Amino acid sequence: MIEQKDDVNEFMFEDLDSGAFLTNSKNNGSPDLIISTNNLTLGFGQKTVLSDISLSVPRGTITALIGPSGSGKTTFLRSLNRMNDDVKGYRRTGDVLFNSESIWRPDIDLLALRRKVGMLFQRANPFPMSIEQNVVAGVRAHRIAKKSQLREIARMRLEEVGLWHAVEGRLHDSPFRLSGGQQQLLCLARVLAIGPDVLLLDEPTSALDPVSIEAVENLIVSLSPAITFIVVTHNLAQARRISHNTAFFFEGQLKEYGPTKKLFEDASQPETQQYVSGRMG
Ligand SMILES: Nc1ncnc2c1ncn2[C@@H]1O[C@H](COP(=O)(O)OP(=O)(O)OP(=O)(O)O)[C@@H](O)[C@H]1O
Ligand SMILES: [Mg+2]
Repeated sequence: MIEQKDDVNEFMFEDLDSGAFLTNSKNNGSPDLIISTNNLTLGFGQKTVLSDISLSVPRGTITALIGPSGSGKTTFLRSLNRMNDDVKGYRRTGDVLFNSESIWRPDIDLLALRRKVGMLFQRANPFPMSIEQNVVAGVRAHRIAKKSQLREIARMRLEEVGLWHAVEGRLHDSPFRLSGGQQQLLCLARVLAIGPDVLLLDEPTSALDPVSIEAVENLIVSLSPAITFIVVTHNLAQARRISHNTAFFFEGQLKEYGPTKKLFEDASQPETQQYVSGRMG
């Protein structure tokens, strides 16, 4: 069962004109906003992929990114922890603030940023090591726990994602015999183990069966507001079920952004209306 956390929405948007403050205004450091992009324009070589995106994500919320194929959702998501920086031809103007500080400031610790702003991909990508070792792989790489604590951390995180009973008898087996849904939950356990404040999810359930989809959605809802989620999805019903705010991307632009209910029921832009009503691919 997924409970929409309307209380968060109400708290965030009371007196705030339907969330209009979320976009089109530069943010210079409100503590309520965990991530803000300010006029982010990004391209690869000649191609401009994102144009002038200003979008602020309130701490503790779930934000859905929707839009047609090629509209720039993945590129946007990947720019929030600087995963595009090494792509050939990459160029950028504008900024991204995490906790009010630029993620491109010269003294930033990139590993620490990626620990705090973690990512889960469309296809589960367990590492070629045991199930237990998978869960603690990030913990070990970041050296954030003692060796003697690793077993307990693995158990705790597997319980948290609801996998413990399925895998407790085969912790030392390969993860590749798990189902697709279980593998995705394992990857979620791995990223949770390093203690992210923000999780970026790129179509995390698109390869999963309905039961696994529900498990992942329930988990996202239950982990918020401690973790802020930004979720790319083509599943509009999913966006409606779990997100507080939705951003609609169209041809590299942020066409519309606001409370999910408003965007789906009373969109202000014709393109948004077409997309959310299924009249645009
Ligand atoms: N490295 C790159 N070099 C050139 N163009 C790129 C590169 N990466 C992405 N693009 C282009 O940027 C545009 C946006 O791609 P992106 O993957 O962000 O879209 P998307 O909204 O995530 O689409 P989908 O829903 O299909 O996943 C596309 O036209 C894509 O071809
Ligand atoms: Mg994509």
